[in-house]
Amino acid sequence: MKQIRFTEEEIRQLKYIDTHVLWHPFTQMKEYEKEDAPIITAGEGNYLIDIEGRRYLDGVSSLWVNVHGHRVSEIDNAIIAQLKEIAHSTLLGIGNVPSIKLAERLIQITPKGLTKVFYSDNGSTGVEIALKMAFQYWQNIGRAEKKQFLSFYNAYHGDTLGAVGVGGIPLFHQIYGDIVVSSIKVPSAYCYRCPWGKQLSNCNQACFQALEDTIKQHAKSLAAVIIEPIIQAAAGMIVWPAGFLKHLRKLCDQYEVLLICDEVATGFGRTGKMFACQHEGITPDFMVLSKGITGGYLPLAATLTTNKIYQAFFANYAELKTFFHGHSYTGNPLGCAAALASLELFEKNRVIERLQPKIEQLKEHLQKFWELPHVGDIRQAGFMVGIELVKDRNTKESFPFEWRIGHQVILAARKRGVIIRLLGDVIVILPPLSISKEELNMLCDVVYESIKEVTGGI
Ligand SMILES: Cc1ncc(COP(=O)(O)O)c(C=O)c1O
Repeated sequence: MKQIRFTEEEIRQLKYIDTHVLWHPFTQMKEYEKEDAPIITAGEGNYLIDIEGRRYLDGVSSLWVNVHGHRVSEIDNAIIAQLKEIAHSTLLGIGNVPSIKLAERLIQITPKGLTKVFYSDNGSTGVEIALKMAFQYWQNIGRAEKKQFLSFYNAYHGDTLGAVGVGGIPLFHQIYGDIVVSSIKVPSAYCYRCPWGKQLSNCNQACFQALEDTIKQHAKSLAAVIIEPIIQAAAGMIVWPAGFLKHLRKLCDQYEVLLICDEVATGFGRTGKMFACQHEGITPDFMVLSKGITGGYLPLAATLTTNKIYQAFFANYAELKTFFHGHSYTGNPLGCAAALASLELFEKNRVIERLQPKIEQLKEHLQKFWELPHVGDIRQAGFMVGIELVKDRNTKESFPFEWRIGHQVILAARKRGVIIRLLGDVIVILPPLSISKEELNMLCDVVYESIKEVTGGI
């Protein structure tokens, strides 16, 4: 077991700088200052270790990125081997070996028809690339009127301005309304709080119809629809009804609209299949991959597309059809080497096959949560789980925003040696695919006890 050695003075200094110099993402620093949050210095399997030697089960895969656990020798060694060759060289105008090998692998494992790979560094930039390519595709083929995007309420596609424009979470996105290219928005199928006020048992799939009506109405000006397939993750793990993605693919074909599937969160096994699109057997026009692509080791993203899209850009330079987009670290060799090693592990360890009983185990364990009176809804797609806490289960009334119930639950879990995250009052369980059965039980027990502790007296 890893021994951690920091002196008291080092610990004091690290904590001071962490709270007074660092500005943490998605964090109100005024609250963070008071929380004595762990500072991670090492990882081991599915555990994180902080500078005071405390161990925490990584219950959110270090923000949905980790796949095989931490300090996996095969990935460590692949990065070290690559480091001995070169850490980085550009893809602008020249190539590098790992990015070529990875592009070939990605094409082999993603849905048939995706044949081109464009790299970037994170999910948001991967989404930007899909949006810009979709837009330029129509320009390049002389259909300049198709320039709008359709996206869903509750959607999350990242924090850069293009991605915010197709986002639909008011708390994160509303304030930037005046400075983004806004999209046409259609309600998402948040069945627990159905936007049409219906019950799942007799709703007649109002969401399917609303989608069709909106696409039909705007077809002439629509460049693309963007969706998080199977599950809207950052919205609070909202699972789409079965058949919705297939329906969307059909409508996109019918009305000549491109389909962007943002698999940043769902890709690489999270939903129980390698990619969420595979649940409904569809091929999008663009698939955006990031997070788990490197096994959670290094920042890397890939936007995959079809030959049809590619051909619209493939022209003499003077025709000005080039895709003028690229980042300094596009196709970084270390990231690509990590990704190749991670994909090998998927095969060698039969990760997807071995995940299935753990998904069932998680599903069974979650039933126990209904005993807790403030659990309003439990949503699961594979290894992605959201537990929505409510003040009143009968009326579905939410807790007052300022009570920060979800946040209190994650602090309670932390005391018990588990790191989890909240999305408002939705508690997220999203462990590394490598979690053992015993660790999965421990994770569920801790989340259960933490919810009980925080909501018990209410
Ligand atoms: C579906 C989806 N798209 C895009 C992003 C943005 O990815 P990144 O944080 O790497 O920019 C996220 C991040 O959570 C996401 O869940």
